[in-house]
Amino acid sequence: MRGGAVVGYLLTRTGDGQRGRHCWTQPQDAAYALDAGPVVLHRLYADLSGQWLADGRLHHYTVAPAADLGVWLALGFPHEQVHAIMDIPAKTSAEVPHDVRQAGPADIDALEPLLGLINEAHAAPPVFAFTDRPMWDILRSGHLELLNDPAVAYWVSEGPEGIDGFVVMRPVPDAESSILKPEGSVELLLASTAPHARGTGVGSRLAAWALADAAHRGFTVCVTDWRAANPLSSVFWPRRGFRPVAYRLHRILDPRLTGSEHVPGL
Ligand SMILES: CC(C)(COP(=O)(O)OP(=O)(O)OC[C@H]1O[C@@H](n2cnc3c(N)ncnc32)[C@H](O)[C@@H]1OP(=O)(O)O)[C@@H](O)C(=O)NCCC(=O)NCCS
Repeated sequence: MRGGAVVGYLLTRTGDGQRGRHCWTQPQDAAYALDAGPVVLHRLYADLSGQWLADGRLHHYTVAPAADLGVWLALGFPHEQVHAIMDIPAKTSAEVPHDVRQAGPADIDALEPLLGLINEAHAAPPVFAFTDRPMWDILRSGHLELLNDPAVAYWVSEGPEGIDGFVVMRPVPDAESSILKPEGSVELLLASTAPHARGTGVGSRLAAWALADAAHRGFTVCVTDWRAANPLSSVFWPRRGFRPVAYRLHRILDPRLTGSEHVPGL
């Protein structure tokens, strides 16, 4: 507060499970008066986070607009996920590449070897994302749902050894729209290339076609996101024209802070 007026707010939602015992702040959960500046968020976090630790919440997530990145980095929050957006170039006469086609539910067995590639990339160094059994168990049913959804465009590329890559485009449902996913945009939801086919142009051909097709369907904006530490996707998506607009940042407090060895003051 300043002079009786609100100059900022910071909200968090608590949760447990795959993300650890955590606090999660969405972009719409934090704001400050422009003339007060982002230092307001710094003070609010200072005020609130002691209680989060007392509650055993060592994982603090915030999804911050790019303009607020500095304040969160200064608070000890490193990058986890990059949220990006692009204006889809209007295409007039693009033709589907000869090795690309839309997949359907009957392709699920052929896709099986590719379904875990994103999880693998996330679990591996240098991303080191905690990946539990349910993250693997939902892959087949999740992809089947996408393959069965008439609104989704599930594109695959076929090489000499069968399906060697996919890109999935899903219109953002109105209920999900946010500053990360503008209303009426399409989301490039998932993409992977089989390891043997990487670096041969499969991913860029699939992405170019998926975007051209989205333009044909009337979409003008595409969103996507990736792990900042993923050495492949963090280079690949900006090269395709995606501009970062927000970041999910994840601060993990030292677990020893909740133990008896920690001496908060003498
Ligand atoms: C990201 C990914 C989909 C890229 O697909 P791909 O088929 O390898 O991409 P391409 O062959 O079209 O290469 C695209 C670019 O990356 C470069 N590249 C890709 N793999 C490379 C490799 N192994 N070594 C060097 N350069 C490579 C290419 O030179 C090309 O450069 P350019 O952007 O300057 O044109 C693929 O690496 C992948 O599946 N990664 C693991 C899963 C994953 O992380 N998915 C994304 C989740 S967000």
